[in-house]
Amino acid sequence: MDRFYITGGHPLRGTVPISGAKNATLPLMAAALLCDGPSVLTNAPDLRDVDTMAQVLAAVGASVTVDQGQVIVDPAGFDHPEAPYDMVRKMRASIYVLGPMLARLGCAKVSMPGGCAIGARPIDLHLRGFEALGAEIAIEHGDILAKVPRLRGSDFSLSGPSGSSIGATANVLMAAVLAEGQTIIRGAALEPEIVDLIDFLTQAGAQIEGAGTSTLTIEGVDSLSGHEHRVIPDRIEAGTFLAAGALTKGDVTLEGVEPDHMGRTIELLEEVGADIEQGEGTLRVTRDGPLQPVAVRTLPYPGFPTDMQAQLMVLCSLAEGDSTLTETIYPERFIHVSELNRMGADIHVFSATATVRGVERLSGAPVMASDLRASAALVLAGLIAEGVTEILRVYHIDRGYERIEEKMASLGAHIRRAGPGEVEVDW
Ligand code: UD1
Repeated sequence: MDRFYITGGHPLRGTVPISGAKNATLPLMAAALLCDGPSVLTNAPDLRDVDTMAQVLAAVGASVTVDQGQVIVDPAGFDHPEAPYDMVRKMRASIYVLGPMLARLGCAKVSMPGGCAIGARPIDLHLRGFEALGAEIAIEHGDILAKVPRLRGSDFSLSGPSGSSIGATANVLMAAVLAEGQTIIRGAALEPEIVDLIDFLTQAGAQIEGAGTSTLTIEGVDSLSGHEHRVIPDRIEAGTFLAAGALTKGDVTLEGVEPDHMGRTIELLEEVGADIEQGEGTLRVTRDGPLQPVAVRTLPYPGFPTDMQAQLMVLCSLAEGDSTLTETIYPERFIHVSELNRMGADIHVFSATATVRGVERLSGAPVMASDLRASAALVLAGLIAEGVTEILRVYHIDRGYERIEEKMASLGAHIRRAGPGEVEVDW
């Protein structure tokens, strides 16, 4: 398994392109199954999760080509309503095929996703939405079995204990666009990735009102057509590079970003001491002063994203004072804390709140990547730590960051990927 070796203490400088959003690309690929004729997604990131979704789509009968920022999905052969455990356990977003299966094939057998490194991740809201559209659902032998002669529009809420669900909104919306009659989804997610999905579906011929609000009104149509669509920029990758620039007191310009999608992230990075200049599709980050502590809660969009919590924690760990980071989305998403503490951070978690006491320095250590964003936080910590940080199991990072080590190295980071058996380099 690959590892990263990072020697800290080198400020990042230069310009870096931001890739298309993973969390937009995955539902868009599934949505292509709803169309008659092929769809082309441009600005798609080259990621392990995208390859996994391509395998899932191939398993259900579609033809998929992934090549140089372009994903082409031809749903002509989509006739196999099954997504097995082998795929769903690799990537929870495989469950996005459930909505298209019900809409186009009238039945589905999809393995029920389990928990993961960031805690329990139920799918009751997805199932609630499909039932509201008339599907009969049973869970047997670890599989979700769903069937429906024809989906029928209805009026229901997808809001759960933590507010809206991105996954449930996307999945149920994909079913509703081909249902008979009107569907009203209340408590819908507002995330830019959902708006991107709505743009794709609308362009394909779907009738959806209310994009970017919590109430979506959908008039079912009989068919949708495949077309070309440009995936929105990845706001979490962008936030991670902003954090890297601020942390190392560098001067980094991000290209191909959508600052409007990053309001709360930009605000919080400024609160911790970053200077951020917004341009047309660009963001430039520098920092002069010391890092400042913050008190923050993760929230659904437009709140501060849980997918940026671990990265922000690295900045807080070197701030002049105590910060608190409270998780309202995934209360157990603190697996990175013990690794950061191995590097000299002073972080305590009680209930769903991490209290981060600022320290003067972090020191390089061998650490273990656990989930995607936690792993990105370890890369950030490595960039600023004294000495060498070895990050094991970087395949977690490859799921969601396109060539992170090449992008970081192009900005001056001393980071190197080592395959099995290779040894640390002397910088
Ligand atoms: C998506 C993102 C993930 C991000 C998460 C929260 C993708 C592929 N993944 O995951 O990177 O961390 O949003 O921003 O886009 N919930 C229920 N029942 C459900 C579904 C969700 O209770 O049926 C709860 C979850 O446990 C969580 C909250 O709702 O507390 C939000 O989860 P959700 O938005 O569904 O996350 P995902 O779509 O799985």
